[in-house]
Amino acid sequence: MNRGSVETSLAELAARIRRRADGQAGRFVLGIAGPPGAGKSTLARGVRDELNLAAGSPIAEVAPMDGFHFTNAQLRALGELARKGEPDTFDAAAYVDLLRKLREAPLGQSIPWPTYDREIHEPMPGGVVIGDQRIVVTEGNYLLLEGHGSWSAVRPLLDETWYLDVPRPVIEQRLVRRHIRGGRTPADAKTKVAQSDLLNARLVEGTLTRADLVLRKFGRAYRIV
Ligand SMILES: Nc1ncnc2c1ncn2[C@@H]1O[C@H](COP(=O)(O)OP(=O)(O)O)[C@@H](O)[C@H]1O
Ligand SMILES: [Mg+2]
Repeated sequence: MNRGSVETSLAELAARIRRRADGQAGRFVLGIAGPPGAGKSTLARGVRDELNLAAGSPIAEVAPMDGFHFTNAQLRALGELARKGEPDTFDAAAYVDLLRKLREAPLGQSIPWPTYDREIHEPMPGGVVIGDQRIVVTEGNYLLLEGHGSWSAVRPLLDETWYLDVPRPVIEQRLVRRHIRGGRTPADAKTKVAQSDLLNARLVEGTLTRADLVLRKFGRAYRIV
């Protein structure tokens, strides 16, 4: 039992963002951080869908950090393919530039945003296009990271940040499953999780205190802790 925590639904979380976005001019950018496998992408889509459903029109879209993965060819050329997923295997400077553009561009101007394809394991340029949507949910591991190059320039570009906190054993199990779905053998999947993902998770866990809200999944709802 978490004393002092508040239970909240996805709809309530979305309504909170809607209120905050309505109170400011221009585009509102929510950032969702957390370790790999925490459920950030799932939560970001959920918030977007709730916002759009409540508004009755597409006012929100997801702009993932994962789209800024360097390509496999780029990582291979640098001899860094095995480290894929670590902070410097993403183009953090390009992510910062596009976040800035998202804030500065007038609503309605098309901004192609890269996504990440989990079947071919490559970024997809222009995987989503942000246009009229005045609320953008960006999500990824390193949104609150400091001391690793350009990552520290991300936080000032976000209007609100959430950290999705999930127990280690849960993310471990989810990540092994995800790697197996992505084509690895069970043994390879376990090695990747132990030698790479969990190290990244530890790094991300150190950024929890920088978030405006810390969320934990609680049944079908969330708890703000
Ligand atoms: N609240 C949840 N409860 C159970 N499983 C979840 C939940 N959120 C996500 N998952 C599952 O966990 C895995 C990782 O979720 P995902 O949203 O891709 O995490 P992240 O983007 O943080 O890496 C996926 O297989 C997803 O279906
Ligand atoms: Mg994700």
